[in-house]
Amino acid sequence: MTQTLSKAADNPASPLLLRALKGEVTDRVPFWLMRQAGRYLPEYRALRAEAGSFLKLCYTPDMASEVTLQPMRRFGMDAAIIFSDILVVPHGLGRHLTFAEGEGPRLDPVRTVADILSLRVENIAAHVQPLCQALTQTRAALNPAQALIGFVGAPWTVACYMVDGRGGDFPRARQMAAEAPDVFAKLIEVITDASIISLKAQIAAGADAVQIFDSWAGLCQPVDIARFVIEPTQKITAAIKETYADTPVIGFPRHAAAHYHSYAAQTGIHALGIDQNADMAMAAKTLPASLCLQGNLDPEVLLAGGPRLRAEALRILETCHARPHVFNLGHGVIKETPPDHVAELAALIKGYQR
Ligand code: CP3
Repeated sequence: MTQTLSKAADNPASPLLLRALKGEVTDRVPFWLMRQAGRYLPEYRALRAEAGSFLKLCYTPDMASEVTLQPMRRFGMDAAIIFSDILVVPHGLGRHLTFAEGEGPRLDPVRTVADILSLRVENIAAHVQPLCQALTQTRAALNPAQALIGFVGAPWTVACYMVDGRGGDFPRARQMAAEAPDVFAKLIEVITDASIISLKAQIAAGADAVQIFDSWAGLCQPVDIARFVIEPTQKITAAIKETYADTPVIGFPRHAAAHYHSYAAQTGIHALGIDQNADMAMAAKTLPASLCLQGNLDPEVLLAGGPRLRAEALRILETCHARPHVFNLGHGVIKETPPDHVAELAALIKGYQR
């Protein structure tokens, strides 16, 4: 008999990750790593070379599912995150997208009201079909104790890429937010609607939890945080809760520790992703006891390995010992990271009992 996820918090058979996300202080701390699938793994590089392009990997369900499972086979994380990208949403909205070798993403920039009016939210459901197929296949391949995470980029972060057309410090997006806030708000609204469609489809296809990546939240002006970061995230979280009340939502407002309290209180997220620049001890002491904290090992410490890796990982585990915690990095795995360091970290976390 299958149990509903509403029972997850008191159901020992439910994946550990879901129990922690729902506020349980679990005996063992569940873990996964942002960018756990990717270029630091030789098997990823091999399949990436065979595919020829990053987008081909993302849009071919067999390949996306295989890449998602690669780190699970090696390290047995408590969750897999589906292999895709936050820029699949703007691509689905009709923007041209490329990933040039060694250059990062390029999008045709959104600069005018006409550009925003040309975005096609109605195309998103069809556009995320390969992602959904990859989720269904991956869910079937995972062990029942392992959770599967779906994701989107937060509207602010996705808007930054859409307006500037590339990564960096997003001068044009910040200018639009400051000088044409109502135009920028319209773009945020379109991305919010598209994100809701994508996440609901991902959950229907097999995602057990979802993460909203706001990697560039720290670039939003403090006066605009409520309008461009918190409100859109709240809207997405509320829409998920309305249809999938039992699916936990993880928010990751990177470099925005000054706003953790209002973000956590106002968005309705179940878990807060803490980046390595934030003080985990302060977060653990001051944020609501039922809120799950996720993080926050510095990816550079994982890259370096050695005694400092063990000491830092233990310090984070100890800091969060009395509250719901999911161990993760403060940002993604760096591509030069030796896989042995990840194996050592995995063994340390799995062996830690609180
Ligand atoms: O975490 C995972 O393992 C799941 C897959 C995943 C990718 N991107 C794969 C990827 C996830 C969750 C993302 C999210 C993402 N994408 C974010 C938010 C998280 C963060 O890192 O801040 C952002 C900002 C993007 C946009 C993006 N995609 C950039 C800026 C780049 C280029 C930078 C780089 O590292 O090269 C990508 C490309 C990308 N996304 C790669 C991977 C594995 C590398 C592409 C390759 O294989 O050539």
